Amino acid sequence: MRLKDKVAVITGGGSGIGLAITQAFSAEGAIVVIAARNATRLREAADAVNASGGRAKAIPADISDEGQVRKMVARTLTEYGRIDILVNNAGIPGPTARIVDMELAKWNEVLAINITGMMLCSREVLKDMMLRKSGNIINISSVGGMSGFPMRSPYCVSKMGVIAFTETLAIEAGEYNIRVNCISPAAVRGDRIFNAAKAKAEALGVDREEVLARLIKDFSLKRFIEPAEVAAAAVFLASDESSAITGHTLAVNCGMHISHY
Ligand SMILES: NC(=O)c1ccc[n+]([C@@H]2O[C@H](COP(=O)([O-])OP(=O)(O)OC[C@H]3O[C@@H](n4cnc5c(N)ncnc54)[C@H](OP(=O)(O)O)[C@@H]3O)[C@@H](O)[C@H]2O)c1
Repeated sequence: MRLKDKVAVITGGGSGIGLAITQAFSAEGAIVVIAARNATRLREAADAVNASGGRAKAIPADISDEGQVRKMVARTLTEYGRIDILVNNAGIPGPTARIVDMELAKWNEVLAINITGMMLCSREVLKDMMLRKSGNIINISSVGGMSGFPMRSPYCVSKMGVIAFTETLAIEAGEYNIRVNCISPAAVRGDRIFNAAKAKAEALGVDREEVLARLIKDFSLKRFIEPAEVAAAAVFLASDESSAITGHTLAVNCGMHISHY
């Protein structure tokens, strides 16, 4: 087991990619704390992991709320004594709209969750990691963090920010034996990508299937990424197998970036 008895906090760990990471970490022996807003979904995810022999705890929290993040981290430390790994996975896709039509409240919401939420979780967890001179932080960016995409400006800005945050924190935290890396997935099979394709299709006045087909066309492997494939990259970055890797962004994108540029 590559993460035996490691204490891992995974934001957004009750659904989608976060749930796949929760399951993969649990299978590798980690104690997993999952944090998100929807308490029912979170508890169901933790119950399922515990029923299959893992160790998971649900702590509801809105990561864009400083007080809630502080309480979530404090509860984790009270229960388990330390946090070895933080996965900043929680995020929202935000609006599909041209910049000229952008609603300020929607723009601000994306940055508050995708960027400020990640900073708040990292800041609170770092206090424990720096004291113990040990830690591992993994941030989830996106292919939207490597290139601009029309009608997705707040998302792209936030996900490019995730990469900038990763590199900055990796430099600041390295002397404390804390590694900070990033995963940049392209379209991962699941509700989020199907809903995003629907919104884009409506905005462009085309078929959802056409939007999905255009996406796949840009991938060298001509298929979507599976949530478990992102989770496998997270296990690698969380484990000692990647012990000399920090400040790195790992593209898990079926070759999209090669075809795209
Ligand atoms: N799916 C893709 O194709 C894809 C591609 C590239 C990158 N990503 C990134 O991968 C990450 C996970 O995405 P996903 O596809 O798995 O989407 P998802 O199923 O919608 O998961 C997002 C998670 O974030 C949580 N969350 C959202 N806002 C939150 C907040 N304010 N506080 C706490 N938790 C919050 C959600 O739970 P609650 O709603 O209960 O809070 C949910 O569990 C995101 O950062 C996303 O940008 C996804």
